[in-house]
Amino acid sequence: MSINKNTNGAERMIADDGFLAQPKGFATKAIHVGQEASQWKSNAVVPPISMSTTFKQFGPAQHSGFEYGRSGNPTRDVLERCLAALDNGKYGLTFSSGLGATTAMITMLEAGDHVVAGDDLYGGTNRLLRKVAMKMNITIDFVDCTDLAKVEAAVKSNTKLFWIETPTNPLLKVIDIAAVCAVAHKFPGVVVVVDNTFLSSYFQRPLDLGADIVMYSLTKYMNGHSDVIMGATVTNDEALYEKLKFLQNATGIVPSPFDCYLVNRSLKTLSLRMERHKMNSLAVAKFLENHPKVERVLHPGLPSHPQHELAKRQTYGHSGIMSFYIKGGLEEATKFLKSLEVFTLAESLGGYESLAELPSVMTHASVPEEQRIALGITNGLIRISVGLEDSDDLIEDLKQALSNI
Ligand SMILES: Cc1ncc(COP(=O)(O)O)c(C=O)c1O
Repeated sequence: MSINKNTNGAERMIADDGFLAQPKGFATKAIHVGQEASQWKSNAVVPPISMSTTFKQFGPAQHSGFEYGRSGNPTRDVLERCLAALDNGKYGLTFSSGLGATTAMITMLEAGDHVVAGDDLYGGTNRLLRKVAMKMNITIDFVDCTDLAKVEAAVKSNTKLFWIETPTNPLLKVIDIAAVCAVAHKFPGVVVVVDNTFLSSYFQRPLDLGADIVMYSLTKYMNGHSDVIMGATVTNDEALYEKLKFLQNATGIVPSPFDCYLVNRSLKTLSLRMERHKMNSLAVAKFLENHPKVERVLHPGLPSHPQHELAKRQTYGHSGIMSFYIKGGLEEATKFLKSLEVFTLAESLGGYESLAELPSVMTHASVPEEQRIALGITNGLIRISVGLEDSDDLIEDLKQALSNI
């Protein structure tokens, strides 16, 4: 552990691996915030699953905070409070999926508004922006947000929203959140959203860096068990929260109480899981980087990553997600993926189990081909989500699958 100063001269603690040192208290918040036993008549230590869709009122329009299950639910409330605390935010909201959360934010906009979006986004976000938002007469520029001059040049008089994902999906480019926010906030009324799905609130806290809203597909690391589809937003801005809360209810994009229970439970082990993902993925990345059949590894924890220094400056470590180029194309990639035995060939990421996929024909097939090619999402680019298994077993599996191509 050491101490150095950031660009504003503020002191910060640096961990032995060079990333920011995790301040104390994260695991305690994940276990306790929102979970007070005294909020239940039974004093239950584990928050109950409240399945009721409606709540008894004392008198007409007089209730204890819950009236109808779409507008509010006790189990959801527990989760939303815990999520907010983990991002050092005041207000958390959950949605039926990550894309549901994105839809709520898009519906905050009006016809004629303009969005600056990263050029390398989850395929479904790209599709939602191009195929749904554009139909609502919202215009979008997809910009390489690692280039701040390009970001600033993309802003128009009607720009209302910046949408960034960092690290990006699937190319793992790291975007300087504080710098992008500084550009965006030169223009009054521009809201910066950061999709923090790849790192979780354990490794990156965008609100601390100036973002207005942090967004999640909770489906990934935050739940971490590949058994829930859910999304979330966290903000410190009361007006944005009120707008999103209105839209959560008005559009009906809400999660089930049972799923809220599961995600709330998963948060209790988030810090432990993320540390193990970090350790395993770095071991795998180092193995792949030295393999003769691998062209290049994209992992922000490797010194060879173009934004390795930035990753160390703005995050507390890297998760289990990474990509790499094998030597070859579709045929070799297919052979490799079909040979895997411990890794499962499947979409998604962030679960306890290791997954592998080919973005060009799977998660990013909906991105227009010319955009894919321009970005480098080729048929030789493989994305893996390194899970919580023994890293030696994962490396052995990759070794045997690579030997088959
Ligand atoms: C970075 C990122 N953001 C958003 C989403 C969308 O989340 P969901 O599948 O929960 O709708 C995904 C899904 O893969 C993702 O990877």
